[in-house]
Amino acid sequence: MRLTDDERAMLDGKGGQAVQKAMELLVRYGEALGAERFVDTNNVAGVPGSSTLFLKKYYEQHAGNGGYEAIYSLYDLDADQIMSVPKANTYCCHLQGGMDPENWAELGMSEEAHQHFQEDEAQVAARGIQILKTCTPYLAGNVPAKGEHCAWMESSAVVFCNSVIGARTNTEGRESTSAATLTGKIPDWGFHRDESRRGTHRIEVHVPVESVLDWGMLGYFIGYAVEENIPVITGALSQSNLIRHKHFGAAAASSGGVEMYHIVGVTPEAATLEMAMGPSRPAATIPYGPAERRAIYDRLNSVGRDPNVDYVMLGCPHYSIEQMAEAARLLAGKKIRSGCHLWIFTSRSVKGMADRNGYTKAIQDAGGLVMTDTCSAISRAVPKGTKVVALDSAKQTHYLPAMANVEAWFGTTEDCIQAALTGRWNGELK
Ligand code: F3S
Repeated sequence: MRLTDDERAMLDGKGGQAVQKAMELLVRYGEALGAERFVDTNNVAGVPGSSTLFLKKYYEQHAGNGGYEAIYSLYDLDADQIMSVPKANTYCCHLQGGMDPENWAELGMSEEAHQHFQEDEAQVAARGIQILKTCTPYLAGNVPAKGEHCAWMESSAVVFCNSVIGARTNTEGRESTSAATLTGKIPDWGFHRDESRRGTHRIEVHVPVESVLDWGMLGYFIGYAVEENIPVITGALSQSNLIRHKHFGAAAASSGGVEMYHIVGVTPEAATLEMAMGPSRPAATIPYGPAERRAIYDRLNSVGRDPNVDYVMLGCPHYSIEQMAEAARLLAGKKIRSGCHLWIFTSRSVKGMADRNGYTKAIQDAGGLVMTDTCSAISRAVPKGTKVVALDSAKQTHYLPAMANVEAWFGTTEDCIQAALTGRWNGELK
């Protein structure tokens, strides 16, 4: 790779040992990718140095030290010794983790694990890393500008960043984001480059795509159809909004590996079909009509058999304030059926707003729980004894049944809340 003077200085150890190791790692990474240079980044979303109790104990056992700097050095930066880790050299935010800071016992976490969670968070904050603790950093204060080079983990956030905001990131890993946090550098490769952002496949939508459910199903269909390619979507989509994009992108990134999409006339790099595609012709043109819509709904509900629901999980990706308001409205003055649980996941930032607006109270008064920082898939936690789950997220429906060994129903938020109130699944495709 061709290095600038400041990159060479970091590699030579001018910024200290941890920065040097981070630069070494990034050079190895860039060379493996075939990148010729780095781009500067001042927007990193990762989990730098953060650990679970399991990871801490593993390093205590195998390296004699499971502290924050040990994990950052040995695990994140692949160093062979423990180094002093300086403050972040970039704007960096911490993504979701595995534990709610208040309802950790509900998630089945131990007091010891909670104690470690608090110590870990204090170390992260001391390095100047923002404690957003969410998969939706763009709803909690980290909104990059169009064209900004970022280094983000979390597939649902990456696809939103590239497609809806028009900022630029690959789906980074823990190592590269932790190294970027210290150096402000990331290889100039993939979605950082214009030629890698153009559409490859055309999706023609022939059936109205209106609700959040519909947007999620279309995203889920497209992920299967294009896998890791870049779809360009035309046709009968309703007015887009933040929630629709959030569910669409998360679904497409789950059933496939979609990291970027274009919707002609909607997303920032797709004013026209020609602009979205560039000089290439689509590798395939794929229709999405009533039959495909029906088939994808059935596929998402293929692991639901028993109509008796004992757990409703909402908030994948983490709920926005508008979704919190909708849940509160649907639950106002009602009670969740005895034996059924409702957990709603969001960011601390959105929960703060929901608290002030009375939404959290309305949800709690009905018997639901509002949790932050995590979700059932990430924490691998469902209420004890859960056999059948109801979900309004195609992404969570994709992952949770296998992870938690449960049946799952997929439907609208309203279907899910009805299931929480009655203990029965009555959703159907309208
Ligand atoms: Fe977020 Fe969990 Fe879904 S971290 S995107 S709510 S799987």
